[in-house]
Amino acid sequence: MSRFTDALNEQISREFGASQQYVAIAVYYDSETLPQLAAHFYRQAVEERNHAMMIVQYLLDAGESIAIPGVGPPRTDFGDAADPVRVALDQERQVTEQIVGLAALAREEGDLVGEQFLHWFLQEQREEISSMSALLAVVERAQASNVLLVEEYLARAGGGEAEVGAPQAAGGAL
Ligand SMILES: [Fe+2]
Ligand SMILES: [Fe+2]
Repeated sequence: MSRFTDALNEQISREFGASQQYVAIAVYYDSETLPQLAAHFYRQAVEERNHAMMIVQYLLDAGESIAIPGVGPPRTDFGDAADPVRVALDQERQVTEQIVGLAALAREEGDLVGEQFLHWFLQEQREEISSMSALLAVVERAQASNVLLVEEYLARAGGGEAEVGAPQAAGGAL
């Protein structure tokens, strides 16, 4: 197995881990009766799951070996309504570094197909850091007065956007 294939297998675990963390965050908001924030993170959880399955499909297409991994427990204790978004932004920053590392490794190994596959992920990370930073700013500002303002913000922002140009997910994207 090439180092790149190895590293992609590790990334599957991290994407599933991110998905599980977002489920934990969504459930926290649901239990706090903040349904828009909950819905936002349930959606993010599905997106992360799809990212994992895109990598699975890529490895299937490449005829490489795949071991579906377990994930560690997510954080479930949060100090206040802004805390989960801080955890989420932190996680997205880490994932961005991991994807950059993967792309650099593909380049190092002269795997241009693998490098090209990661371009969509790099763009996705840029968008996610941007939207999560915006959400954190809104939550922190609203927290001083009324957290329900965040619910309004998300209700107006609407649901997820179509993933144009996204790699195919094994079994189909959810
Ligand atoms: Fe992801
Ligand atoms: Fe993400």
